[in-house]
Amino acid sequence: MTKHKIAWLPGDGIGNDVMEAARIVLSKLELDAEYLHGDIGWDFWCKEGDPLPARTIELFDKTDCALFGAITSKPKEEAQQELIPELQNKNLDYYSPIVRLRQELQLRTNLRPCKAFAGNPLNFRDDIDLVVFRENTEGMYSGVEFHPVPQDVMDTLTAHHPKMKRFAGVLPDEIAISLRIITQEAAQNIIADAFEYAKKHGYGSVTIAEKPNVIRETSGMMIREARKVAAGYPDIELWETNIDAMAMWLIKNPQNYGVIVTSNLFGDIISDLCAQLVGGLGFAASGNIGDDYAVFEPTHGSAPKYAGQYKVNPMAMLISTKLMLEYLQEDEMAVKLERAISQVILEGKVRTYDMGGSSSTLDVAKEVASKI
Ligand code: IPM
Ligand code: MG
Repeated sequence: MTKHKIAWLPGDGIGNDVMEAARIVLSKLELDAEYLHGDIGWDFWCKEGDPLPARTIELFDKTDCALFGAITSKPKEEAQQELIPELQNKNLDYYSPIVRLRQELQLRTNLRPCKAFAGNPLNFRDDIDLVVFRENTEGMYSGVEFHPVPQDVMDTLTAHHPKMKRFAGVLPDEIAISLRIITQEAAQNIIADAFEYAKKHGYGSVTIAEKPNVIRETSGMMIREARKVAAGYPDIELWETNIDAMAMWLIKNPQNYGVIVTSNLFGDIISDLCAQLVGGLGFAASGNIGDDYAVFEPTHGSAPKYAGQYKVNPMAMLISTKLMLEYLQEDEMAVKLERAISQVILEGKVRTYDMGGSSSTLDVAKEVASKI
């Protein structure tokens, strides 16, 4: 029997290209695994009205974790228009499958390492080593939204909050509400994960980046919990920074920061910023990690115009693969893979277009494999 069972979810667009790259290095590493293909992505939305079909959800019970490529996401109206005629007017709503995965599988922690590899011409500086811990299931991504806003929702909010008064009388269709929900449990978990990581990997500080001076309740909850958790780690300093200032400091002195922890939408934004400091989305890897399951994915999109051209940088996918190996407790393989990636970047002979080269996605993967 094989040791690991991995759900293999290429998705669409360049998802397929980069997953092929991952397969090349996994074969070279001889990971003892069975790969079970799962349908996910835009095609399944258009043809079945569900980008994350039930059969794919079932696959998660049969596997230890998933490796995922990329998916196209489009706004509501466009998504409607691309449904096959039989599915039009059925009141189907497009909802991002990756966000659904995070919530349905309770993958509460989004881990996004952004480390500058020596020799990467795209680095902002060479001494950057950031890791973003993004709360992954709540906050602005809770999905509790209203438009039009039902009158009784307006009435209840008005009865409970004086600041609602100025919206009284706005027509239901002319107001939209998205709720930022943060539970104490989720706040505690993400912060505890950040501190544990800092301890394990020898970081001297954890920075919580929120906005408690304005978003008093939800950001306030995050800060309170951070202080409580920090009390249990006397050797690690807790730095508190407002998210807007954080963006500025990260451009000014990125080398001063290590582990950063924040809520869902702030983490989405700040992790793109961090990724750009170390080479852009071509280097942005992530792990969506819960208590029983995890999904690893590059954080870039599906770049449909490059699909099937094997042009894009597979590094983000290869680093995500490394995170997956760590999750599977294949630490030796993870180290080998990271070393091979570093070596290829340092030598700079085989590079995709974003790094100024002309090699293909698969050339890069083969070069990495050759160093393993
Ligand atoms: C990310 C992406 C997703 C997000 C999109 C594709 C829904 O931007 O993983 O950062 O917003 O979380
Ligand atoms: Mg994002």
